[in-house]
Amino acid sequence: MRVLLIGSGAREHALAWKIGQSPHLEKLYCWPGNPGTAELGENIEGDFKNPDKLGYWAREQQIDLTIFGPEAPLVDGLADSFSRRGLFALGPGREGARLEGSKSWAKKVMDEAGVPTAGYDVAVTMEQVEKSLAKYPEPYVLKVDGLAAGKGVLICEDHSKALEEARSVLEENRFGSAGQKLVIEEFLQGKEASLLAICAGGEYLLFAPSRDHKRLKTGDQGPNTGGMGAYSPIEEISAAEQDELGRQIFRPILDILQKKGIDYRGILYAGLMLTPQGPKVLEFNVRFGDPETQAILPRMENDLLPYLFSAARGELFPEPIKWKEEACLCVNLVSGGYPGSYKKGYPISGLEKLNPETIVFQGGTSTKDNQLVTAGGRVLGVTVLGKDLSQAREKAYLEVEKVNFKDKYYRTDLGRF
Ligand code: AMP
Ligand code: GLY
Repeated sequence: MRVLLIGSGAREHALAWKIGQSPHLEKLYCWPGNPGTAELGENIEGDFKNPDKLGYWAREQQIDLTIFGPEAPLVDGLADSFSRRGLFALGPGREGARLEGSKSWAKKVMDEAGVPTAGYDVAVTMEQVEKSLAKYPEPYVLKVDGLAAGKGVLICEDHSKALEEARSVLEENRFGSAGQKLVIEEFLQGKEASLLAICAGGEYLLFAPSRDHKRLKTGDQGPNTGGMGAYSPIEEISAAEQDELGRQIFRPILDILQKKGIDYRGILYAGLMLTPQGPKVLEFNVRFGDPETQAILPRMENDLLPYLFSAARGELFPEPIKWKEEACLCVNLVSGGYPGSYKKGYPISGLEKLNPETIVFQGGTSTKDNQLVTAGGRVLGVTVLGKDLSQAREKAYLEVEKVNFKDKYYRTDLGRF
């Protein structure tokens, strides 16, 4: 099978690593890819910002399956444009991608489907904001409707901060067209979990539950990031509970999408808050999680490629997914300063000292004079399997000490929250 993988982060490196083990793979292309994916396939160069050009290239190269890593091309309708060319794409079309591309639409669909989620209002004016804030106690949760590169959730400690933030979004256009609407949501308390499923033909197959660590600092403090690490499985969701979550969340969402005429083929990711009143959906994403994927795929026994290819063709691969008993922990090594500004171009050393079974997924790297250097915020995901989470943690934290680059930063408490 000839596969094109779109994206350039550690999630895509993890997908390439897993797909690279498939006996069905003939050739893997990555666009734009990173130095990690270049070891597993061929990174293609070229200006494919124009989606038509990429579809044309894929057609020419007789690509059998295109896998979309990030959400932006899906929200822009790139999967539709591939389908129109007769190409199979893993990732929903523009309509289905609205589950991630419009928070207000996702809330409406959740309501229609009866999926448990936080109470909410949609506001486009400051008057509506004030009315809505009056309904909820502090702290307030404001969400920018459209895609905001992970920065669109504003948790405000008090009323005046909430008004200030709402004004900056609605009146000062802080998020441009993504911020024409705000979702104002009830604040939920609990531990978070990520539950992903592969969906096609109105059916779903769940991946093992996982948890990412969004806050920057040890102790679950500091600003939100794209994710400082992740682990799987998580003790709060047993196999039986997972099946129940499938029935409560994925079944009704897929039913509603079908009713709307949306043929959802791809990954559906439910971000959950495990509240005292039961799990509630915080958000949907229409793609694999980053860094959850790095902690999930090393536990998967089966070949991933048939699952992705079948889903892209509109049906689920019929075999249940088998998971290793072992726990997997991915620790992200980030550039000091991230998620704010940081310097790039520092040489990365010590990778050759790692245990052979440790997997390093590259996220923000590039090569300079044959040397791997830092090139992004989330530089590397050092990933290990252990017989349980505490063993995985012990092993992982010995490993991360061996890898070095200037201003390296990581959390020392992953897997404890
Ligand atoms: P999201 O991008 O929707 O995942 O939101 C980013 C983070 O904001 C989540 O991982 C939660 O930590 C937090 N968050 C989002 N919605 C809520 C909510 N209704 N109550 C409490 N925290 C929330
Ligand atoms: N780990 C959060 C995300 O992928 O959106």
